[in-house]
Amino acid sequence: MTEAFAWLPEGPDTIVLGDNLAVTALLPDGCIRLIYLDPPFNTGRTQSRQSITTTRNADGARQGFQGASYDTVKGTLFRYDDRFEDYWAFLEPRLIEAWRLLDDRGTLYLHLDYREAHYAKVALDALFGRDSFLNELIWAYDYGAKSTKRWPSKHDTILVYVKNPANYYFDSEAVDREPYMAPGLVTPEKVARGKLPTDVWWHTIVSTNGRERTGYATQKPEGVLRRIVQASSAPGDRVLDFFAGSGTTGAVAQALGRRYLLVDESPAAVAVMRARLPDAVVVSHPSLRSSHD
Ligand SMILES: C[S@@+](CC[C@H](N)C(=O)[O-])C[C@H]1O[C@@H](n2cnc3c(N)ncnc32)[C@H](O)[C@@H]1O
Repeated sequence: MTEAFAWLPEGPDTIVLGDNLAVTALLPDGCIRLIYLDPPFNTGRTQSRQSITTTRNADGARQGFQGASYDTVKGTLFRYDDRFEDYWAFLEPRLIEAWRLLDDRGTLYLHLDYREAHYAKVALDALFGRDSFLNELIWAYDYGAKSTKRWPSKHDTILVYVKNPANYYFDSEAVDREPYMAPGLVTPEKVARGKLPTDVWWHTIVSTNGRERTGYATQKPEGVLRRIVQASSAPGDRVLDFFAGSGTTGAVAQALGRRYLLVDESPAAVAVMRARLPDAVVVSHPSLRSSHD
């Protein structure tokens, strides 16, 4: 590990331009409270392959990876769908890094669509341990063209896993509440307070002319990230997003008084983040010098 990130979890809000597997390798174990990941969806054989076995270490296996059963799960999945094998070969070493980087109270939110979520859940059960599964969140929206040949798909899935099921951080009191669907059925006091969101979140996509719009194609709504950051981190905690895109996680973290570390390999994404988060330190890997240099 270099000294580049030895200051974590303290230190400045930072944006890194670089491949996330290379960048995460520089970060110390257990330096992050909350990780949100929104990887590109399974788009076929376009991702570069990464070795699975070389990134796993003996310490990791001892601390909870379930080696033998995981290999069995992987073998079964890979026989079932070779597209998944390619995609998973890309994603898996990055999820192992996420596990390593979380502190003992930490939580991973993995944002996927319906084409990957079921594979990922089985694999994450094996990787984190089944007891570490916290939730399957459904983000439901209603926008865009609708198929008439099947039920139109209008949701994403966010899988939630904690590092230590006996010690994880979760503050439901800090989460913005929402209106009751049937306010006539509850007391006026309850109506006034609103209800705690469940695991199904109705939320619009980023509107084309809204305040938060950056123009980045895959930008996610701040409202979705807000709940995640409120529930699974405290003010001052460090939040990591290493598929950061337009920097939604950083924008929300900043608004809520958390520190952030954002990584993306795309210079276009980093340009968007730099404009959205002008106070962040911006560096690029491998030099890890200021990208102004
Ligand atoms: C779905 S987008 C994330 C969008 C983000 N949640 C937002 O709200 O804007 C996925 C991002 O992952 C980045 N990415 C893909 N592969 C990467 C890699 N190996 N290392 C770093 N970033 C990567 C892409 O450049 C893209 O910006």
